[in-house]
Amino acid sequence: MITLIVVLVLFLVWWLGKPKKIAFTAPGPKPWPIIGSLHLLGQHESPFEAFTALSKIYGDVFSITLGSTPCVVVNNFKLIREVLITKGAEFGGRPNFMRFHKLFGGDRNNSLALCDWSSLQKTRRSIARIYCAPKFTSLQYDDVNKVGTEAVEVLLVELRKQPMGQPVQVKPLILAACANMFTQYMCSTSFDYRNVEFQKIVRYFDEIFWEINQGYAVDFLPWLLPFYSGHMRKISDWASVIRKFILARIIDQHRASLDPGVPPKDFTDALLLHLEEDPNMNWQHIIFELEDFLGGHSAVGNLVMVTLTAIVKYPEIAKRIQAEVDSVTAGTRYPNLFDRSAMPFTEATLWETLRTASSPIVPHVATTDTEIDGYTVKKGTMVFVNNYELNVGADYWKNPQEFNPERFISEDGTIVKPSHFIPFSTGKRTCIGQRLVQCFSFIILATLLQHYDISSTDKCEVKPSCMAVPPDCFRLVFTPRQVH
Ligand code: HEM
Ligand SMILES: *[C@@H]1O[C@H](CO)[C@@H](O)[C@H](O)[C@H]1NC(C)=O
Repeated sequence: MITLIVVLVLFLVWWLGKPKKIAFTAPGPKPWPIIGSLHLLGQHESPFEAFTALSKIYGDVFSITLGSTPCVVVNNFKLIREVLITKGAEFGGRPNFMRFHKLFGGDRNNSLALCDWSSLQKTRRSIARIYCAPKFTSLQYDDVNKVGTEAVEVLLVELRKQPMGQPVQVKPLILAACANMFTQYMCSTSFDYRNVEFQKIVRYFDEIFWEINQGYAVDFLPWLLPFYSGHMRKISDWASVIRKFILARIIDQHRASLDPGVPPKDFTDALLLHLEEDPNMNWQHIIFELEDFLGGHSAVGNLVMVTLTAIVKYPEIAKRIQAEVDSVTAGTRYPNLFDRSAMPFTEATLWETLRTASSPIVPHVATTDTEIDGYTVKKGTMVFVNNYELNVGADYWKNPQEFNPERFISEDGTIVKPSHFIPFSTGKRTCIGQRLVQCFSFIILATLLQHYDISSTDKCEVKPSCMAVPPDCFRLVFTPRQVH
């Protein structure tokens, strides 16, 4: 008995005295009370510039407390791959920002982009795949081409009504064209530019896109909420106006004419058919999924606007795109998607714009206790992937500050993208709309430059690593050109 006690005591002494395996969290700035390290982000033009600056002090993975939220920032490609791919399942959550709930009927899980990962999300992504990621030889790809070229012809008609050679507030027109590309492709419906209700929802979608691309202190300091109640109400009002429009002008008609006996004619039909077959899907899911995808048009429109700022700033780039489109079409027709492989410079200009403008948009959240590069990351920690660093870091690019589409064109004239260039992210939650973005933005850019020289008298500033330009932004001057 005594021996047993002695052994136990000795064991306890050994066990308590044994050096513990200490769980290290990544180093980082010491947080201030209440605001944490939020003030450090305010010192730069974009939070990603702040992240890059802090990574020079604390290393490629560092901890930072924003408000009272523990966050980790990951700054190199190897570790970003660890978060998004190797451990994608452990970092598949999204933050609980109040704004995100307000946008989606009080529950961000209704949204495809802002929900936590779940089997429902897997289903929703798979329904979307054939429509949102059409393969080159598919019927959907032909459809994207047809819808895109038709909508851009309407845009040209609308542009001709504008005063030529004078500044034009062109963003609403470009957004309307993008909106019609999306509604026609996904819902077989288009709207007249003069339809006031349509104008209103295009505007609200754009407000929401701008909103999602901003960071707000209130995201991290929920006690500020009372000061933001007006703002929050505005957000949920925009979203509910959009929802009513989609229900009345799109879904109701589709529901009335739905025929389960024939293949779905578009994405909306496919969603409605799924509702009948899949007990896990409900009515809400359908409306929100459609709304999420239609909302993608704002991303395309904003990307085109940002690209046009480069066109205005670098006239030689505009000239090269014009030479390319003229040589491919010989001035006898509009450009289309099947010209893309013969127009690498035009495509490369869009990639170069994405390099300077794209950002990760929404943070990821650890859904379980895990680690990054050996550092402990607790469940609930917010993870920022610093793809700004991947896009403009000197380790990754030659002359990264130079706007040079050539960097995406190989010796033999084809498009090459380095593997660390991930403007649409990668892994489980990678952007679903990326192929549509590439197709529609190409058609718009090529066709606009085929017909116009574009300049500006306004200052066309855009924020670094931000794809959004404000809903009311710079005007552009369109001068018709002789099509050769
Ligand atoms: C220039 C345009 C666009 C850019 C740069 C872009 C980029 C991104 C990025 C970086 C993410 C985050 C991925 C992650 O968290 O790892 C994302 C998510 C997403 N994007 Fe896009 N996107 C664009 C346009 C679109 C369009 C047009 C659509 C819809 C048709 C779309 C639908 C989505 C959805 C649904 C998600 C969420 C996926 C998920 O969380 O599971 N995006 N996008
Ligand atoms: C969202 O869905 C996830 C996964 O199904 C769940 O764990 C989480 O609690 C939900 N979040 C909210 C805010 O309802």
